[in-house]
Amino acid sequence: MEYRHLGKAGIQVSELSFGSWVTFHNQADVKAAVEMMSAAYEACVNFFDNAEVYADGKSEEVMGAALKQLSWRRSSYLVSTKFYWGIQEGVNEKNTLNRKRLIEGINGSLQRLQLEYVDLIYCHRPDKTTPIEETVWAMHNIIEWGKAIYWGTSQWSAAEIVAAIEIAERHHLHKPVTEQPIYNLFERQRLSNEYLRVYKDYGYGTTTFSPLASGLLSGKYGKGIPKNSRAALEGYDWLHNHVTDKEKLAKVQALESIATELDCTLSQLALAWCLKNPFVSTVITGASRVGQVHENMKASEVAPKLTPEILEQIDSIFVVKEEEED
Ligand SMILES: NC(=O)c1ccc[n+]([C@@H]2O[C@H](COP(=O)([O-])OP(=O)(O)OC[C@H]3O[C@@H](n4cnc5c(N)ncnc54)[C@H](OP(=O)(O)O)[C@@H]3O)[C@@H](O)[C@H]2O)c1
Repeated sequence: MEYRHLGKAGIQVSELSFGSWVTFHNQADVKAAVEMMSAAYEACVNFFDNAEVYADGKSEEVMGAALKQLSWRRSSYLVSTKFYWGIQEGVNEKNTLNRKRLIEGINGSLQRLQLEYVDLIYCHRPDKTTPIEETVWAMHNIIEWGKAIYWGTSQWSAAEIVAAIEIAERHHLHKPVTEQPIYNLFERQRLSNEYLRVYKDYGYGTTTFSPLASGLLSGKYGKGIPKNSRAALEGYDWLHNHVTDKEKLAKVQALESIATELDCTLSQLALAWCLKNPFVSTVITGASRVGQVHENMKASEVAPKLTPEILEQIDSIFVVKEEEED
């Protein structure tokens, strides 16, 4: 496992990390969480991603209980959480990055995680109604109070990120250091294009998510929706069209010969492809059981096998050539 700087921040993150969306509480209890987090940590993962909204706070409770059992040295790992959607219905409590919500949010998360501080807090989505300046000040204050160490954004536009950085610079506040965007073989546009100047000009980091497109890139949906898969879970019907899309499934199938040639699984190949992007600081993996963690962590060994020729072969499957303009 290699470690990469989170953009130009001093901190380093393992190139593969581990997150708890969908899985913790819904598919994994504390025992399973301990097992999966141990497998990741033993593979040298040092970053564990979470969010207040995951399982309405219960994902943080499961991770907190697991961390307590694991009793790792606190300085040996990083934990994150994120705010935006909220877990209460009140007018100032959902879909917002207002100052009151963020400050109350971090206090709730720390309680559920049983931690004195988290390493990273993200603004889970941009809030079009709260001034960015108010959010930047709140994140700065949370860091100054020692409740978080760094902050970042998730699925913000490049313009919003630059606005936040410039406000922070103007007032000598803690700047956001990383974006958390979706990035996988099917969804690469934003990270490969829109954010490029933000990485280059501001040294912004990236902690990318859904590297297997919710499991589709593992090849498991080739013959329909398996019973024990994410798309079969109650409340995840919205994934059905995505995992049964014939064009997407054909692309996944076309990857199989490359995986065979490299002697790896489709999941490892899809994760290794993400690792090849030098602007990716860490690829946040997800798993519903420990076997998947063991399999996915080996993607680090596959990445060096992805030569420029193989990357071109992969592109020829996934990149739709845009029609030439006049
Ligand atoms: N910032 C954001 O808005 C945002 C959004 C989404 C995710 N995230 C973060 O990114 C993390 C990863 O995202 P993700 O869970 O969507 O990642 P993903 O890699 O696209 O999907 C993970 C799921 O795929 C299946 N899977 C994983 N490894 C497999 C393998 N080797 N073989 C077969 N199936 C496998 C498992 O589901 P089943 O076994 O149940 O099928 C697993 O839960 C999340 O936990 C979260 O921390 C952030």
